[in-house]
Order: sequence, then structure tokens, then C-alpha cells
Amino acid sequence: MFAYPITQFGIDHLQRIELPQPTPTPGTVLIKVHAVSLNYRDLRMVGGLYNPKMSLPRIPCSDGAGEVVAVGEGVTNVHIGDRVCGIFMQRWLDGPLTAEKSKAALGGDIDGMLAAYALLHHEGVVRFPNHLSFEEAATLPCAAVTAWNALHHAGEPANPAQSGDTIVIQGTGGVSIFALQFAKLLGAKVLGTSSSDEKLTRARSLGLDEACNYKQAPEWSKWVMETTSGKGADRIIEVGGAVTLSHSLRAARVGGTIAQIGVLSGASTADPLALTPILHKQLRIQGIYVGSRAMFEQMNAVITKSSLHPIIDQVFPVDQVQQAFLHMESGSHFGKIVIRLASL
Ligand SMILES: NC(=O)c1ccc[n+]([C@@H]2O[C@H](COP(=O)([O-])OP(=O)(O)OC[C@H]3O[C@@H](n4cnc5c(N)ncnc54)[C@H](OP(=O)(O)O)[C@@H]3O)[C@@H](O)[C@H]2O)c1
Repeated sequence: MFAYPITQFGIDHLQRIELPQPTPTPGTVLIKVHAVSLNYRDLRMVGGLYNPKMSLPRIPCSDGAGEVVAVGEGVTNVHIGDRVCGIFMQRWLDGPLTAEKSKAALGGDIDGMLAAYALLHHEGVVRFPNHLSFEEAATLPCAAVTAWNALHHAGEPANPAQSGDTIVIQGTGGVSIFALQFAKLLGAKVLGTSSSDEKLTRARSLGLDEACNYKQAPEWSKWVMETTSGKGADRIIEVGGAVTLSHSLRAARVGGTIAQIGVLSGASTADPLALTPILHKQLRIQGIYVGSRAMFEQMNAVITKSSLHPIIDQVFPVDQVQQAFLHMESGSHFGKIVIRLASL
């Protein structure tokens, strides 16, 4: 089978090679991968920035969708022909995250989906909604489940967003656009930032209520306070990291939640972080690490009921894997980037 393993760090080292096609062992399912989607994590993984000590070779990409073509002995819950996605953390099926459950993430701890076939444990897959194409389904495992968790769970016990809440999203990448779509389904008011007026206009067409260009207004927390009549936002889907966290602390309401997800502007800051808003406002800062299979299934039920379609920026053919990664690196995308590996 073909695969695009990381053999050396760097996008220019991602090359197609031939590997033996895996055969099912007891408890596993063999998936013909039709499409993968890219996440910022995959970009950092390929660049050697996520885990410079990762043992190589490693097949990248956590997110893929395909068709089950064979099942191993003892598998009764998954059938040949099922259209499935792999779950991000293969061992986080339900309940709270534990150290043990966090150890088998696709495209990092173990091989991911950027290959013609993937062999996964039967518990590590979910059927995806019937109305979605393989390309659309490939966008779900990381970005969509993360956004879902940040809005509907955000910790144990769950601290879900409510209808009528004001939610802030940052930028227009994969997680943020899913958060926008899910927040609108929930009946929330969504405030969004972007470096691009054009992208903000596009986000408005998906329901974004208020928009702010963070290049023109780097102090966007003031805009959030003005827009909420001085109250602040109920929840902030924090993907910016080092540069944005201090603004998020200022933009949250008393008792608000910051769903701490990303590190787009870095994972640590040279500037000291003013901690007082955390205590003065009794903020809840909740780390989010994707989500469980149970969350994925709960999200899929709502995607089905609402006939929601993920927003795909561009689908690249399989011979343009490097171009797809370079496109993500450019930051010019809106929503998700997909690579089609197989045709129907
Ligand atoms: N904790 C988790 O489980 C988890 C899961 C998924 C993702 N993440 C993290 O979440 C972040 C987003 O991931 P993604 O896959 O959605 O990324 P992505 O699709 O690559 O999003 C990139 C977009 O983010 C925006 N952006 C970049 N720098 C920004 C800044 N300083 N302030 C505001 N927006 C900024 C830009 O949007 P505009 O062009 O509109 O400005 C950019 O196009 C990454 O750090 C990723 O590692 C974490």
C-alpha cells in the first residue's frame, strides 16, 4: 500500500512510499482510507515541532475517514462496508480523560491515517453521519470533537454552554469554524476575530454575529467588552495561546469559561501574564484535549439531526500532499483542508 510517513522532519521530506498492507488481527478492523484532513498539530508533527523526540518513521494525521474492508476475529460491532472515522485517542472511549487513555493518539503516539489503509482497534472507530462524504467526515475526529467538547462538556462534571450565551471564537481555522457552527445550533451569540475582513464576511454567512479584525484591533478584548455592554463573554474558545490568552482573560465575564485549546501564537509568552482577572472574575480555565468516542458519537447524532456540513476550504488530490501541508502553513485557509486518498 502507499503511505506518506514522516521519515525526517520537514514538509519537503513527506514522500510516497510503498509499505506492506496490514492484515486484521483479532479485535482490529482494516480501513481503506478515502480522505484525511489536516490539523495544526499535523503541521507541527511533520515539522518536528510537536515532539522533536518522536521516534520515526511515523505515519502522520490523526483524522481520516474510510470504509471497513476486513475485520479481525471477535469483531462483532463493526462490519465490512461500514463508513467510519478513527477516533483521535484510540483509548479514550468514555468518561474522564486519564493518563492511560491519552497515550494512543493517532498520528503521534501511533501511526495515523495518511496511508491507503489503516488498521485500528474495533473500539477506536465510529460510524459517521450518512449525509456526509468521506471528505467531510475526515474533518471530524480532531477539530470538530474538540469544538464539541469545548462547548458541551468542558470538564468533569460537564460545564456546558447554554442557549443565549455569548461565545468568542478566534480566527477562522478548523476548530473555530466548527465552534461557530455548533454554537449557532445551540442558540448562542458568536463573536469572532480574524486577520482578514474577507474571512470575517464569510464567517458572517455562517451565522457569526459580530466580527473584529485582530490585526486592525489587537486589543480585541476591549471590543468584546463593548459588544457585550461591559459584561464580557460567557465562553472563549481559546486557540491563540501565548498572544491571545491575556486578552481572553480580559474578555471573559465574571464566572466565565475559557476553553484552553490551542497554541497558534506560541505555547509560552515572554511577557508576564496578568493573573488577577482569573481570581477577580472567578474564571474557569478548562484545558481541552480533543474528546472521547462518546463525545464523538453524541456530536454525530446532532450533525445528523441538523444536517450540518463541515466547511472545507480545499480538497487536495493524493499526489499533492506537500502542497496541502504548505497551504495549511500559509494560514490562508478557512475551515478545513482535506486530502483525497481514494476515489469511490
Ligand atoms: N487541545 C486540543 O485538543 C486541540 C485540538 C485541535 C486543535 N488544537 C490547537 O488549536 C489551534 C487551532 O487548530 P486548528 O487545527 O483549528 O488550526 P488552523 O485550522 O490551522 O487555524 C489557523 C487559523 O487560526 C487563526 N490564527 C492564527 N493565529 C492567530 C492569533 N494569534 N489569534 C487569533 N487567530 C489566530 C488564523 O485565522 P485567521 O486567518 O482568520 O486570522 C489561522 O488561519 C492549534 O494551536 C491546535 O494545535 C488543540
